[in-house]
Amino acid sequence: MTLVNYYNYEDIRMLNFELTSKCALKCSRCARVTDPGSFVQVDLPLDLIKKRIPTSIFNSHLLIDLSGNYGDPIYHRDFIEVIKYFKSFETSLYIETNGSGRSRQWWDEVVSHLGPKDIISFSIDGLEDTNHIYRENALWGDIENAVAACAGKVRTFWKFIVFKYNQHQIEEAQALAQKWAINKFKLVKSSLFYYGYGEEDDPLMPDLEYVQGSLAKKIEGIRNPVPLKAKSNQDEANHTLEKENQFQIHPKCITTQRHYISSEGFYTPCCWISIFSKDNGFNIQKKKEFSLYHHDLKSIIEGPAMKELAASWDQMDSAPKFCQKRCSEKVVGHSSHDFIKLAPKG
Ligand SMILES: C[S@@+](CC[C@H](N)C(=O)[O-])C[C@H]1O[C@@H](n2cnc3c(N)ncnc32)[C@H](O)[C@@H]1O
Ligand code: SF4
Ligand code: SF4
Repeated sequence: MTLVNYYNYEDIRMLNFELTSKCALKCSRCARVTDPGSFVQVDLPLDLIKKRIPTSIFNSHLLIDLSGNYGDPIYHRDFIEVIKYFKSFETSLYIETNGSGRSRQWWDEVVSHLGPKDIISFSIDGLEDTNHIYRENALWGDIENAVAACAGKVRTFWKFIVFKYNQHQIEEAQALAQKWAINKFKLVKSSLFYYGYGEEDDPLMPDLEYVQGSLAKKIEGIRNPVPLKAKSNQDEANHTLEKENQFQIHPKCITTQRHYISSEGFYTPCCWISIFSKDNGFNIQKKKEFSLYHHDLKSIIEGPAMKELAASWDQMDSAPKFCQKRCSEKVVGHSSHDFIKLAPKG
């Protein structure tokens, strides 16, 4: 079994910074719109990054991902200074953005600080006549300018979420991406359907032929439900026992090493906890042991609070509920500790 040195700060390969929780758009299923009371609109200060992220993490193996949960990185007040700081080390950047609200001149300056390995991924869910249906307030002219400034200078992606209103435009969008010299056109299958709608009449849900895998099965199940067999209490009890015996936590934060820092200055091992722990009695965002305003990142990641969280993954029932939900897998003959090697003490 390969051991992953998860807790060695210098070995981290990916850090996802939520530079800001601000955004000019109102995408109707984005957490900032569906859950407006759950976050404050704030920038992660560059001074805090400089003070609390020991620079030994910045090396050519590190990818800095600027996606976040509630905001769009381009609206950070010091965005250009932040990327200049990151690029002063040999790190690669991944920037995910809706592309609206910034001038051509601003994008030219951004790109002047980036290199051919850096990626800018544009989230564009449709064409000029449709993108703003989901991406409310998106400005097509701004997106065109942004792409024109970036294509050919950095790696560019077009991330296209398939909805009912844009499903007929996939090929046209792909052709436009080629014309714009975008490096990769990616179709994304959303699972954020049925918000406030009955399962059969969500206007954003694409037709079945446009989705695959678990979502397709779910839609098929809604359209052609299989009658449920009545279960006895004994069946239920056996089933629960069987489930508990068969499943264990298989932490994706260890296998993928995608660590997260929120705009409020909290470190979490993944971006999901940052949002979902609030519903599960383990509000990591309230724990000052995980706050960059109290500790530096190396001390947090290698410190006792993180070790305690990692130890809780050893048993299904001791793990936080969100980890049970997101990262439980059928037992295949190893325990979560097979993947964990704590940093040597001292
Ligand atoms: C908070 S956004 C951060 C980056 C940027 N603001 C953007 O929209 O690309 C996080 C991610 O959620 C994605 N997203 C938004 N609405 C979605 C939906 N309905 N289904 C799946 N992903 C969605 C965005 O495309 C983006 O990749
Ligand atoms: S652009 Fe991104 S952050 Fe802004 S509302 Fe849409 S999904 Fe949310
Ligand atoms: S849900 Fe829990 S176990 Fe899964 S990646 Fe996030 S922190 Fe790790």
